[in-house]
Amino acid sequence: MMTTTDAQLREQVRRRYAAAATAVSGGGTNSDALVAEAGCAPAASNSCCGAPATAGASQSESGGCCEPGSMELDASFGAGLYNAEEQAELPAAALAASLGCGNPLAVADLRVGERVLDLGSGGGIDVLLSARRVGETGLAYGVDMTDEMLTLARANAAKAGVTNVEFVKGSIEEIPLPDAAVEVVISNCVINLSVDKPAVLAEMFRVLAPGGRIGISDVVAEDHLTPAERAERGSYVGCIAGALSRTEYLDGLTAAGFHDPSVTFTHHAGDGMHAGIIRAIKPSQFR
Ligand SMILES: C[S@@+](CC[C@H](N)C(=O)[O-])C[C@H]1O[C@@H](n2cnc3c(N)ncnc32)[C@H](O)[C@@H]1O
Repeated sequence: MMTTTDAQLREQVRRRYAAAATAVSGGGTNSDALVAEAGCAPAASNSCCGAPATAGASQSESGGCCEPGSMELDASFGAGLYNAEEQAELPAAALAASLGCGNPLAVADLRVGERVLDLGSGGGIDVLLSARRVGETGLAYGVDMTDEMLTLARANAAKAGVTNVEFVKGSIEEIPLPDAAVEVVISNCVINLSVDKPAVLAEMFRVLAPGGRIGISDVVAEDHLTPAERAERGSYVGCIAGALSRTEYLDGLTAAGFHDPSVTFTHHAGDGMHAGIIRAIKPSQFR
């Protein structure tokens, strides 16, 4: 039987989300018009994370929701998870590109002047909202490996008139920022897509300043589901098959050095699968 290598899986993820970005940006034409044309109202975004978790189904790499003109709607994913006030702060294309499974801003409790990093920033929705929360004296970074997403995010920042943001190309397993660069790490439905989750957790710890915190949304499996059972519930690129279980998340965060890790299920994402909020703290005495 042919197996997919980590490099192949990562390339499938990159291609899937490049297609998602292109579907929203329309290859450089007016994205807001395209979004309207595609029927993707801001509150009912397309969802790649969030492809239907039908038992036994495994979406092909090229097929499914990320193809232009075939956007699927799912209330558990995307822009519908943001309140009206948050939605009003954003360009339509930023909302339409929302592919997350939660709202990390709801738990990150950002303060003026803080530096925030969003892992897998996509079209930029959480970076733009973070930038507004931390104000002119703060800074919001987004890291993403997909050029098309970075282009879309920078265009969305320009449309929103937000300047205290930096979108940086890179992988979340090797974050292109120095040690202790930020007070907060957020992420929205991305860590499940990583082929090296221990590296991601270690990198989050490294880039956080002592006393820093994480506020992450992700798909999480119940502990009794084996990796094979998770894969029966949805594809890897659709954010289901690669999900950690609750105990795997907690143990991984502890092994990386975090204190007070917690995983709170927020809503259903498939049989035995949940969207969840993950929190933890880097101890303040750590140097
Ligand atoms: C499901 S989308 C979520 C985007 C965004 N967080 C949101 O809520 O809309 C996943 C994003 O993570 C990026 N990504 C996936 N794996 C990555 C990795 N290993 N390193 C950097 N970016 C990655 C993809 O390019 C894509 O933009």
